[in-house]
Amino acid sequence: MNHIYRIESRKVLLRPIEEKDIELVREWRNREDIRQWFFDKSIITEEKQKKWFERYKICSDELVFIIEERESLNRPVGIVSLYNIDNEKQEAEFGRMLIGDKEATGKGIGAISTKMLCSFAFRHLNIDKIYLKVYKNNYSAIASYTKAGFELVYEYMKNKKVIHYMELINKRKGYLRVINGLGK
Ligand SMILES: CC(C)(COP(=O)(O)OP(=O)(O)OC[C@H]1O[C@@H](n2cnc3c(N)ncnc32)[C@H](O)[C@@H]1OP(=O)(O)O)[C@@H](O)C(=O)NCCC(=O)NCCS
Repeated sequence: MNHIYRIESRKVLLRPIEEKDIELVREWRNREDIRQWFFDKSIITEEKQKKWFERYKICSDELVFIIEERESLNRPVGIVSLYNIDNEKQEAEFGRMLIGDKEATGKGIGAISTKMLCSFAFRHLNIDKIYLKVYKNNYSAIASYTKAGFELVYEYMKNKKVIHYMELINKRKGYLRVINGLGK
């Protein structure tokens, strides 16, 4: 979905992905150490990446952001998305996050980006629930998600691997709903 959202904090900027980013993203995504953590582990060709971006621009339920580190590196370092955005159910799936720039890893940028995107979705997209699926042994991803407030709801097996289904609920909005309900 073509969007214009820019989400800023002191250390990180989340900005819309552009055509000029897609080759760098493809390089990151095809790396073995990154690909192993995605459910679709296939190598992405230049052509497939272009087709994906063309489809993405016209889809209406996905927001993809480039993560820029703005404290010392001042460049794109990763990517993160919100997809399956369902306005009726007021929920969305979080994921496809990676920090591809090796100089940017280990600095907590995953957790910061997760927090930023989720609070943006709660405040500006009218989303109440954000969920994600992650391999149980993806410790750095789970640590990032837990820091951002995600909680394990259940685990299940897929292709002999254990997957954690986690959720983050907009508690502030839930509280307001109860008050509104009482007022009726
Ligand atoms: C997930 C990812 C985005 C997190 O990036 P990051 O912000 O650089 O993550 P960090 O290296 O700062 O690690 C996050 C936390 O996990 C912890 N961690 C890392 N490896 C760990 C391990 N083996 N066991 C337990 N905790 C671990 C770190 O200590 C850190 O916690 P801290 O901030 O309290 O020290 C990054 O690791 C990545 O791109 N992974 C490959 C793609 C991927 O897995 N994406 C998610 C798909 S669902």
